Amino acid sequence: MPEIMANTNNGNYPIHIKTGILRKLGQIVSASIKGKKAFVVTDENVASLYLSEAVKSLESSGLKVFSCTVPAGESSKSLEMLSLLYEQFYHAGISRSDAVVALGGGVVGDLSGFAAASYLRGCALIQVPTTLLAQVDSSIGGKTGIDLPFGKNLVGAFYQPKAVVIDPQVLSTLPRNRMSEGMAEVIKYGCIRDEMLFESIEKGLFDLEWILERCVRIKTTVVQNDEFDTGERMLLNFGHTVGHAIEKVAGYSNITHGEAVAIGMVFAARMGILEGITPEGTDVRIRAVLEKWSLPVSTGLDKSAIFESMLSDKKRLSGKHFYVFLQSIGQAVVYPIEKDTLKDHFDQVFDNQ
Ligand SMILES: NC(=O)c1ccc[n+]([C@@H]2O[C@H](COP(=O)([O-])OP(=O)(O)OC[C@H]3O[C@@H](n4cnc5c(N)ncnc54)[C@H](O)[C@@H]3O)[C@@H](O)[C@H]2O)c1
Ligand SMILES: [Zn+2]
Repeated sequence: MPEIMANTNNGNYPIHIKTGILRKLGQIVSASIKGKKAFVVTDENVASLYLSEAVKSLESSGLKVFSCTVPAGESSKSLEMLSLLYEQFYHAGISRSDAVVALGGGVVGDLSGFAAASYLRGCALIQVPTTLLAQVDSSIGGKTGIDLPFGKNLVGAFYQPKAVVIDPQVLSTLPRNRMSEGMAEVIKYGCIRDEMLFESIEKGLFDLEWILERCVRIKTTVVQNDEFDTGERMLLNFGHTVGHAIEKVAGYSNITHGEAVAIGMVFAARMGILEGITPEGTDVRIRAVLEKWSLPVSTGLDKSAIFESMLSDKKRLSGKHFYVFLQSIGQAVVYPIEKDTLKDHFDQVFDNQ
């Protein structure tokens, strides 16, 4: 079974990827902590599908299990839910050596990850991601946090889990549009670091366990080299500069992150071609795989609103504009670019969508 070790400044932890491994959750958790209690945080949808299986496995390993089910959706990444979790951790008598188990998508992972990071200045955290996006992206890298009424992810912490447990089988219940959303990130990994992964998606070969392993390896390696997000991690932002701007202009509830990133990747490929850094035809290949997964590849939103929003993206470094371009499929670079050149390329790509 692929077991990947993530090495961080705060210790190493295993990432288990295997079909059916949810049944072994209890063994993994009890081997990862000194305490005897596990507090499972999940959301309504995941609770009805997988909570009882998770609880059964944890109990059969001798752990005393508590759980809290939050409403599904981004609105649960809130101060109210965080406060509810603190209260329930307190009543369950959770100590620093007990486990908080995040069973769900990125929302549950970010919320309970931050609760675990901050309660008693940090209790053990086990991530059990159940969406494709959470399995290949949000459960790995140690970013946790919640939203505030005035913006997304404004409060949070870098906090590494004791283990990540990825069961591809849970994706069988994920709606197709959620699967596509995660596939946008998978395609991104292929674009920036893994031509073989990209080609296998192009050919429609679909071994989920293999795909997950490739993506998780890329994310752990990139994050390992840049744990606190100051350099190489920028590569993971391929397609995200235009993507974030589109999400903002469309309004977060009107487009998914994956859809926005899909459009952003086509833009980045075309702009890279105009800059002379990306080979001709790269955009056509990226477009084709995205369309296979029913992801959008163009936008009808306002051109100048997107560009303005791009310029205010917080990922800008020291006044200069850095953009992630592809030198080829499988090889991305962070490239400095003048604002005027960026605008020319963006306008040209936008007008020829
Ligand atoms: N921490 C990070 O590094 C990082 C990275 C990317 C995104 N994020 C965050 O992740 C969040 C989005 O995550 P998400 O896309 O997983 O959303 P999500 O957690 O809201 O899950 C999407 C939906 O799928 C349902 N669901 C989850 N697993 C399921 C399953 N196996 N079967 C059926 N339904 C299931 C959920 O109940 C929910 O309705 C955002 O808040 C974003 O900010 C964090
Ligand atoms: Zn993303």
